[in-house]
Amino acid sequence: MPNRAVEDRWAVVTGASSVIGLEVARSLSEIGYSLILQGARHANALELLADELGSRGRRPVVVRANLASERGVDHLMATIRERTSHLDALCWLAAAGVMRPVSALSLHHLEWTFRVTAGSFAVVTAGLRPRVSIAVSSLGSQRIAPEYAAIGAAKSALETLVRYLAVELAPASSVFGLRVGLIDTPAARRLSRYEELEALLRRRAPMGRLVTPEDVAAAVVTMVTEMSSMASGSFLTVDGGVGLVL
Ligand SMILES: NC(=O)c1ccc[n+]([C@@H]2O[C@H](COP(=O)([O-])OP(=O)(O)OC[C@H]3O[C@@H](n4cnc5c(N)ncnc54)[C@H](OP(=O)(O)O)[C@@H]3O)[C@@H](O)[C@H]2O)c1
Repeated sequence: MPNRAVEDRWAVVTGASSVIGLEVARSLSEIGYSLILQGARHANALELLADELGSRGRRPVVVRANLASERGVDHLMATIRERTSHLDALCWLAAAGVMRPVSALSLHHLEWTFRVTAGSFAVVTAGLRPRVSIAVSSLGSQRIAPEYAAIGAAKSALETLVRYLAVELAPASSVFGLRVGLIDTPAARRLSRYEELEALLRRRAPMGRLVTPEDVAAAVVTMVTEMSSMASGSFLTVDGGVGLVL
């Protein structure tokens, strides 16, 4: 565990109600961050997590916000500004999307997916200028997974926004991408042909296993505490080497 003190520093985790978000929040809390946790539909999961973390230290602030809307984004930003004038870290896990073939996607589906997964990240990062901002992306930003087109396209946009923001917000803020391989979560299991995809990736994985939420949390902690600001705009891939294998 890194020993750099982060007392009295605030971090925000969006998509904190996801299985991965819960683990990221636990790890950031463990290294001393005060937390603001965002979710949308599953506020109960966040309240339970806030109770768990609150029993060991400062209780995280829970914010429910629909990040597809201007109102939701404003509400999240206002909640953060009430707590801190200088946000130390932002980890962006909020994502949503319609899983269908491209031929079954409407303009509305695509726009909504982009708003939650990529657009709101840019507005919040540019508006708050945290010391470190991490956008969690997926291998589907570059590779094709069945019916993942809308989210894959939004993740590609997210990655492009990481690069633009890294240039625009330098030198005060560092902006990184974290590209993650398949993780067995309830959301991933909604992927078309999930079982097939999982079996294929397990067979190919040089590390012999899939990525876990704990792997993502460990990477976020490293990026927040150890990454040089000179690496701003770059990406860390945590996929057990799957993306390297033909
Ligand atoms: N699972 C994987 O294989 C995998 C691989 C690579 C990257 N990732 C990324 O890791 C993150 C979490 O993944 P997951 O599999 O655990 O997915 P998930 O459960 O679908 O997580 C999505 C998160 O985004 C929030 N969200 C959904 N719609 C929203 C909206 N309109 N406004 C604000 N927030 C909204 C959800 O909140 P509520 O549940 O409270 O509505 C949830 O916390 C995502 O960014 C995903 O792309 C996952």
